[in-house]
Amino acid sequence: MTHFSESVSLFRPCHTYIIGVELSVKSLVAAYNELTKLDLRILRVIEVAHRRYEWVPMEVIVKWSNRSWELVSKSLRKLNALGMVLRWKGSYTGYRLTYYGYDALALHTLSKKGVIERISPTPLGVGKESDVYVAEDPAGNKLVVKFHRLGRTSFRQTRKFRIWVGERRHITWLYESRLSAHMEYKALVMTYNAGVTVPRPVAVNRHAVVMEYIEGLKLSEIKTGLEKPEDVLGSILDDVAVTFRDVGIVHGDLSEFNVLVELEEEKPYLIDWPQWVPRDYKNAIDLLRRDLENIIDFFRKEYDLEVNVDEVLKYIVEGIELKELELEEAFEEMLSQKELRTYVLGEESEESIEKALSSIEKEFATTGKEDREKVKIGILSSGEEEKNKSDENPAHQT
Ligand SMILES: Nc1ncnc2c1ncn2[C@@H]1O[C@H](COP(=O)(O)OP(=O)(O)OP(=O)(O)O)[C@@H](O)[C@H]1O
Ligand SMILES: [Mg+2]
Repeated sequence: MTHFSESVSLFRPCHTYIIGVELSVKSLVAAYNELTKLDLRILRVIEVAHRRYEWVPMEVIVKWSNRSWELVSKSLRKLNALGMVLRWKGSYTGYRLTYYGYDALALHTLSKKGVIERISPTPLGVGKESDVYVAEDPAGNKLVVKFHRLGRTSFRQTRKFRIWVGERRHITWLYESRLSAHMEYKALVMTYNAGVTVPRPVAVNRHAVVMEYIEGLKLSEIKTGLEKPEDVLGSILDDVAVTFRDVGIVHGDLSEFNVLVELEEEKPYLIDWPQWVPRDYKNAIDLLRRDLENIIDFFRKEYDLEVNVDEVLKYIVEGIELKELELEEAFEEMLSQKELRTYVLGEESEESIEKALSSIEKEFATTGKEDREKVKIGILSSGEEEKNKSDENPAHQT
């Protein structure tokens, strides 16, 4: 397993020579903006080919991309220099996507669909299992793009996802990260629709979840600074109750680190949902208890608030019949067959690969000159930098 060293190197500035051109790329969005349509076409082909191959043979990339060996090699050298693919030489030469390459594909789709128009050059936060970027939609609304990264340092969730992803797949990190993102998005949609205070879900693509940006601080960072801690605690507990009773799920990783408090109204948002479980899972109540303990302990320590965990727990589960199922069964009851198929299984059939390739052909239908056409995403800078930039620009001076 090389996941860890790989993910570390991904975020180092990439500085290299390629075909006589020096590429010095400092951020994901800058790297993305270096790509031509042909490069994206090659990335897409490798992505589709991963359904069959762990290391995609050069021959397959050439054949499926419908471009000359020379053009494909040139593009692969560049993608390799940008850290978006890795090369392997064994009995044949093969390539695979890195997280960075997968990020570029998600960014491409999200910008093409008009979900995001600009993105910050550096992540807002690098978590254990995600990188979170600030972005903007075409209307200038502030969003967050959370790229899920399983298999980086923690295997906390892996076992759950192995149930489905398991032995069926070559590069499990890709499928697990994608599943993790879809799971988080699903939880955000269900809870948001039930009126729980969570960031509004905007979109999901591959391993990336796009949601509303919450201007605030983590509960853990506020410590004794809340004016109405009782109200904040009350609101969190109400949301946990609605999540259990009306939505039928348990967050499973709730703590002061996964609550963002909007400071003006002291409104607590529950974030970080990929590990949710259905309440019919046999260990759901243990997880619910742990979620409650984490929150209640925090308010006891920092604000001297006394709340009895057992009483809250009893109140929340009162009158609800629980099936105590195994995890897979519990999920299978909750998610539709279609959801399970798209989140988890993907399609390996000849027919579905044909379909994917023809959509690539359509999307990146370029020849000769057009292959050099640039695809761009705006780089989000702070308000001040924006202002300085426009001050420097004579066109903006009156
Ligand atoms: N919707 C949002 N609005 C603003 N900031 C956010 C939002 N979602 C996440 N963040 C920021 O990104 C950080 C990481 O997000 P999250 O907790 O969902 O992922 P994680 O992989 O569990 O990270 P960690 O290991 O830090 O908990 C959060 O602590 C928060 O600072
Ligand atoms: Mg978190």
